[in-house]
Amino acid sequence: MIVLGRDGFSEKLAKKMHAKFVRIESKIFPDGESYFRISEPERVKGEKVILVVRGESSKLDQNRMLTESLLILDKLKELRAKKTCLLLPYIPYARQDKEFLKGETISIKTFRSILKEKCDLLVNVTSHDFRKEGWIDRKTYVMDATDSIAEFLKSKKFKDPVFVAPDMGVNESVEKLAKSLGGNSLGFKKERDRKTGKIRTSGKIPNLRGKELVIYDDMVSTGGTIHNALKLAKKTGAGKIICVTIHMISVLNKKHGKNSIDLIRDECDEFLATDTIESEVSRISVIPDLAKTLLKIF
Ligand code: R5P
Repeated sequence: MIVLGRDGFSEKLAKKMHAKFVRIESKIFPDGESYFRISEPERVKGEKVILVVRGESSKLDQNRMLTESLLILDKLKELRAKKTCLLLPYIPYARQDKEFLKGETISIKTFRSILKEKCDLLVNVTSHDFRKEGWIDRKTYVMDATDSIAEFLKSKKFKDPVFVAPDMGVNESVEKLAKSLGGNSLGFKKERDRKTGKIRTSGKIPNLRGKELVIYDDMVSTGGTIHNALKLAKKTGAGKIICVTIHMISVLNKKHGKNSIDLIRDECDEFLATDTIESEVSRISVIPDLAKTLLKIF
């Protein structure tokens, strides 16, 4: 088995899986086009290959991730790999999973079907719920990262914590975390203006004086969703608030004039993310669970 990738994450994954690691070299041409090269092409023939395509929070380029996936998967076919698995810890365009306004593209549906045609197995870590859309089949697998998060949070030794969903869309995951860490859950309602993108968050504010609160969301982009939830959570009188997310995409929050990592970090006691995307708050690793899962399914 070979793990193919460009960063330390793929190298660690290979080690955990007792697989060989082969590096992908890359550069960007002056006109913006991408260049990729498998550094040891002679090792691929007849092997099972896991291609890892992953980005860094502050310079995440989702379009380049898709280009890299398509180009390398074709190259692996040409080099006669025995079987290929595309691992996108964060799958680009995951949020565009519905036609909210008539005429909009359902981008993730298109990209998932193109990508899975090019490989034997497409794997990503929890994003929007593809199960609900009926998009999970024998060629696709979504690994739930709440197990890795729960495992990490055990070390915090919470006493009666409350897990908060900043948006009903992640309520199921929040309840799962509450169950595995022995706490209660609370959900806020988020509404988004589909034209302006502005969000409004509302919900009951119970008295949680002195308690530890964990606000969880599957991804952070501008930070607006968690920031709104933080404002409500603070009104509960909680003693400590931790924010945690799976995919940390760090962008400028124009309303607050701050990068989303700083926006959230400045308002809570601790801000944590997994390493599906490299970021300065990525302290929870999904590598152990991914290694176990991949050894089982691929
Ligand atoms: C939305 O449906 C997702 O679950 C996240 O809540 C959202 O993508 C977070 O975006 P932002 O940080 O820009 O509010």
